[in-house]
Amino acid sequence: MISIKNNTISLHGRDISYIMTVGEHGDLLHFHFGKRLADREYSVPAKWSAWSPYAPEGHTLDNMPQEYPSYGYADLRPGAFSYTKGSMNGIAQLKFRGAEIKKGAASVPGMPCLHDGGAGAETVCITLADEEAGIEAVLAYTVFEEYNIIARSTVIRNISDSAVYLKSVYSSCLELAQKDREIIYFPGSWARERQLERCALKKGMRVNIANERGGSGHNMNPFAMIADKNSDESRGEVYSMSLIYSGNHSTNVMCAPNGSVRILQGINPDGFGWELEPGGEFASPQSVMCFSDNGFGGISRELGRLYRNKLCTSRWTHRERPILINNWEATYFDFDEEKLVTIAKKAKEAGIELFVMDDGWFGARNDDTKGLGDWTVNRQKLPSGLKGLAERINAEGMKFGLWIEPEMVNPDSELYREHPDWVIHVPYKTPAQSRQQLILDITRSEVRDYIIKSIKTVLSEGNIEYVKWDMNRPITDMPYPGYNHRYTLGLYEIAGALTSAFPDILFEGCAGGGGRFDPGMLYYFPQIWTSDNSDAAARLMIQYATSMGYPASAMGAHVTASPNHQNGRMTPLKTRADVAFAGAFGYELDITKMDGDEFEEIVKQTAFAKEIRKLVVEGDLYRLQSPFEGNHCTWEIVSPEKDEVFVMSCKIMTDTLCSEPFIRLEGIDESAVYTDTLSGKTYYGDELSRRGFMPEYDMKDFATVILHLKKN
Ligand code: DGJ
Repeated sequence: MISIKNNTISLHGRDISYIMTVGEHGDLLHFHFGKRLADREYSVPAKWSAWSPYAPEGHTLDNMPQEYPSYGYADLRPGAFSYTKGSMNGIAQLKFRGAEIKKGAASVPGMPCLHDGGAGAETVCITLADEEAGIEAVLAYTVFEEYNIIARSTVIRNISDSAVYLKSVYSSCLELAQKDREIIYFPGSWARERQLERCALKKGMRVNIANERGGSGHNMNPFAMIADKNSDESRGEVYSMSLIYSGNHSTNVMCAPNGSVRILQGINPDGFGWELEPGGEFASPQSVMCFSDNGFGGISRELGRLYRNKLCTSRWTHRERPILINNWEATYFDFDEEKLVTIAKKAKEAGIELFVMDDGWFGARNDDTKGLGDWTVNRQKLPSGLKGLAERINAEGMKFGLWIEPEMVNPDSELYREHPDWVIHVPYKTPAQSRQQLILDITRSEVRDYIIKSIKTVLSEGNIEYVKWDMNRPITDMPYPGYNHRYTLGLYEIAGALTSAFPDILFEGCAGGGGRFDPGMLYYFPQIWTSDNSDAAARLMIQYATSMGYPASAMGAHVTASPNHQNGRMTPLKTRADVAFAGAFGYELDITKMDGDEFEEIVKQTAFAKEIRKLVVEGDLYRLQSPFEGNHCTWEIVSPEKDEVFVMSCKIMTDTLCSEPFIRLEGIDESAVYTDTLSGKTYYGDELSRRGFMPEYDMKDFATVILHLKKN
C-alpha cells in the first residue's frame, strides 16, 4: 500500500493514489491525489507553472505543490504552520529528512482518530526539518487497503535551544491543479444546522470555512468538498476534507493566480497559540481526505463506511438501535415520576423500546435557570430515585436512559456556590452567560475528576442503558490563546473515561441540537442528535446535507408533535416518521395524548422501523432528489448485499398529479426482482434503475412515499 522508491513516496488505497516527491532542493512536494497511478518514475514535473515571476531568487516554491508549506521564505502563499521566536517571526523552510513506513493506522495523542483493528492500514511518518530555524515536523499519512481516503496529522517539534510560540498548526495541506472547481460546505445555525452551500472557486479567491464558537459549532461543520464544476451526486471528481475534531476548526482555501488551489485543514489559528519549550512538541488533530470520481455520493458512502468501521469505537456502532421516546418536547421541565412512567407504559404499547428522561431530573432544575452541575436526583420529582425509576421503567418492559450536560454549571447551583472559580473566565471580567449557564473549566484536572466521578455515580445508580450528552452554549471568556484546544482535549478525556467505563451504554451526542455534530464526537458516540428542529420539512434539508459527510446511523431523528414546536409547521404523522426512518429513530411527543388512528399509526411505524433498522445501520445511502434544488426530496438506503432497499420520497408542496417524475434507483441489483414489503408490488431491478419508479403522492403538502424492497 505504501512504497518509497528513490525520491518518491506513494500511498495506494482501493482506487486512489497519493504521491509525494522530494524535490531537488529537498522540499517535500505533492505530486498526485486522485485516481490510482502505477508505482513508477513519474514523467511530469511536480509544479504548477514553469516559472514564478518575482519569487525569491534561486530556489522558489511559489509555484510548487507542497505537502506542508512553511510561511515567509521561498513560498509566498499561506503556510501550514507559523510561529514566533521571542519577538521575531519564525522563518523556516522544512526539508525532507527521512520517512518510515509502519503497519497500522497512526494514532494521535489525546485525540480521536481512525483505527484499523489490526488489519488493512499502513502509515508513513515523514520527518521534515529546518535545523537552522530549530523546527521539525513529522507528517503522518495513513492509508487503508479498502478505502479511498488518506488520514493526515502533524507533529511540530521545537529542536532549538529556546522556546518557540506556535501561532498556527494545520493538520493537512492539499494542493489541486488548475480546473474549474467549486466548494461545497455546510453552514447553519441552531435549528438550521448543516445547510448545503455551493459556490465557484475563482482565481485569487480565499475562502475560510471556519468556526470560532468553541465547539465544532452549529454555524459551520468541519467538513467541505471541492468538486468539478459540473459534478453531482454520481458524476465528477470530488475531494472532501473532514477534521476529526470538536473545537474551533478551519478549512482554509486559497486559489492562486496560477489556477492551483491550496487547502489547509486543522485547528482554527484564530485564538490559537502554543508555547513549545526546547524539545517540546505539539500534535494536531487528524484530517481525513477522500477522493471520488463518482460525485458526492461516492464521497458520502465512503465516509459513511469509514466512520462506522474505522472511527466509531462504541459497541453500539453496528448494533440495531432501540426505538426511543424522549420526554423533552412532551413535558419540558414539568414532569414527575408518575408522568414519566405513564409515558413509558403507553410507549411500550406502541412498540417503543427505550424511555429517555431528558433535562430536569436533578438538583433544583425546575427550569433552565438553576441546578446544572448538581448531579443528584431531584427526589421531589422522582421519589424512587434513579434506581427506583429505572426499575419501574424496566418493569414496563422498557430500557431506561437519561440526559446529562456534564460540561456546564448554572450560577444558581450548589456546585457553583462551592467552586465559583471552576468556570471558564478571565480574572478581570464577569464571564458571559448563555442560557443562564457558565462552562466548567475542564482544562483543570480537578474539574475533570469531579465530572467523571459524579457522572460515574449517576450511571451506576440504576440500570441506565442510554445517555444523551448535551452541551448548550458556545464557549466564551477563553482566558488565553490555545485554550479552546486544551478544552477540547479535556472533553475527549472525559468522554473517553465515561464511555470506556460504561461500554454497554448507548451514548448519543447533542449540543443544543446538532451544534457538535463532528467526526471527533462520533469516535465516542455512535449517534448524535441532528437538530432541535424536528419539523419533517426542515429535516429533509438538514438530514440530506448531513448525510453528505456522515452515516445515516449517526443521525438522531425523532417524530415530534404537529404543529412543530420549533417552527409551527404542520406535517402529516406519516411524513414525520418517513423522514425520521433514515436515522436513529425515535419519538419526542406526549404519546399519552395519542389515541385511535394516530396511535395505531405509531404502532405500525415502530414495527416498520424495526424491520429496516439493520439496513439503516449498515446500508449505503444514495441521494436521488435534492430539497435544495426543487420540490422533491428522495433518498435511498441499499444494503451491502443489495438485497434490501429503503426509499423515501417527499413532494414538498402539493400540486396536481400531472407531472410526477420517474425516480431512478441507484446501487441496486439490476438483475434482481424485488418485492415492496409495504404494498406487495413486485419490481424488476433493471426497470427501477434504468426507467425508475413513479411515486404516487397523496394530494397534500409534504406527502411522502416509502418503499421497502426485498430481493425475491
Ligand atoms: C437541548 C437539546 O438539543 C434538547 O433536545 C434538550 O435536551 C434540551 N437541550 C434540554 O435542555
